Amino acid sequence: MRKSVIHSLFFLFFFLALSFCVTAQRSGQHRPQFHFSPVHGWMNDPNGLVFYAGEYHLFYQYYPNATVWGPMHWGHAVSKDLMHWEDLPIALFPDSLGYIFSGSAVVDEFNTTGFQRGKEKPLVAIFTYHNMEYEKAGRKDRESQGIAYSLDKGRTWTKYAGNPVVKNKGDEDFRDPKVFWYAPKKIWCMTLAVHDHAEIFVSKNLKEWKYASSFGQHEGAHGGVWECPDLSRYIASDGKEKWVLMQNLNPGALNGGSGVQYFVGNFDGEKFTNDNPPDQIMWFDHGTDNYAGVTWSGLPENRNIVIGWMSNWVDYAQSVPTVDWRSATTIPRDIKLVKTESGYRLTQLPVKEFKSIVDHSSHLIQNESSLTDSISLLNKKLQHCLNLTINLSDTPPIEVGFTLSNALNEQVVIGFDLKNHKCYVDRTKSGKHEFSTLFSAIHHADYVFGKQITVKALIDVASIELFVDDGKLAMTEIFFPNTDFDKLTLFQKGGGATNVKSELIPIQTIWKK
Ligand code: FRU
Repeated sequence: MRKSVIHSLFFLFFFLALSFCVTAQRSGQHRPQFHFSPVHGWMNDPNGLVFYAGEYHLFYQYYPNATVWGPMHWGHAVSKDLMHWEDLPIALFPDSLGYIFSGSAVVDEFNTTGFQRGKEKPLVAIFTYHNMEYEKAGRKDRESQGIAYSLDKGRTWTKYAGNPVVKNKGDEDFRDPKVFWYAPKKIWCMTLAVHDHAEIFVSKNLKEWKYASSFGQHEGAHGGVWECPDLSRYIASDGKEKWVLMQNLNPGALNGGSGVQYFVGNFDGEKFTNDNPPDQIMWFDHGTDNYAGVTWSGLPENRNIVIGWMSNWVDYAQSVPTVDWRSATTIPRDIKLVKTESGYRLTQLPVKEFKSIVDHSSHLIQNESSLTDSISLLNKKLQHCLNLTINLSDTPPIEVGFTLSNALNEQVVIGFDLKNHKCYVDRTKSGKHEFSTLFSAIHHADYVFGKQITVKALIDVASIELFVDDGKLAMTEIFFPNTDFDKLTLFQKGGGATNVKSELIPIQTIWKK
């Protein structure tokens, strides 16, 4: 009798917890309103990004029991439009083989695994097992790759009995499998981060894998360990098929800490070759707060969408001043590969679905001004998209830019330094910074401006994502003012008047009130 009461209470509690998970809203200080963040607990990398049956799945590195990193699970949310997210129960829990580290997910369209039972295609997650017992024992072979599958559109997951599917031969860092289907050879390919390079493995059925090649030991940036590689096919602006390897590294990024670099080249189903000289470094995002970015699989041809973790791993991710939860994702971004005079380059902009959360019902501020000094655009809580078109006169200013501020005189300054050809974000007076000596800084990106500068900036309570000249340059930065920024001011320094067209559009919250 007592046992059955305990059972009922347990289930009642379980279902209450589950419904809390599905319906809980996001509020409180520093909580983004149009970016994904976990209801509570710790989040890092986005994982298992896959599109299936009209839903975009977002799994993420998740520790529900604290706001710092811990035994890793895969948290789970789905969206029909990449903007509004529905929380689903945790998809993968740690087990005797280890914590569930980062990885990817694919739709097994041709049932190569043999997992399919009914009409739904199997969704297969490929992830890293990190064995803490091995780590404690000083064993290097602590990381291996496992798979799990779902036959009900990602709602429940079964781990494969034959795990691990890729064993470790003694590499201390051996993780973050990103898998894709290579149609010309009808094979699965996996990129894996192995300390200072990426390795490619191939498979016919996602269960048996064969090593194919390595890339990168002497290419690109190496200020830290390579993590979360993403090799994807692109149709470039000139119609050519190209392959891009996005390669995260921690630390060693342009402005310190973790970041994403990329390589452009070709892929033949086994080997990636870089178009550019080995010492050329290309950054995907020039800010400090875009890490572990990977792309969605299962998308229609010629669409590449990336989402990143909006924080900085080594520098302060675990100490930012949020309560009950930590970290948000970037806005999902459409990436394109554009042919330029210096070769192929990635551009990025918020996905086109972003338009659906633009708040048409409230006030849109439009302004065309001859900027000689400073003008205030807004005195209201900032949760906005700012579009600027800056036309430089023949006597251009030394600098033009804008400031987010509040009544406490805290501010973030975004500047386009035309004299030194730099774009910068200054968060030295942005509010809370005591949690890390590395936070309060000015971050720069080299950039040669033309006669006209276009800027799109997404400002959401505790972050700014900056896209310059149709996304040729991106900078993502977070900040923690003591009261929310509520003022936006345009400024210019030196030179003649500059014509600036500005448009400030309110963005709706993606969470139900
Ligand atoms: C990147 C990373 C991955 C690893 C995961 C662990 O942020 O370090 O390499 O799989 O996080 O949570």
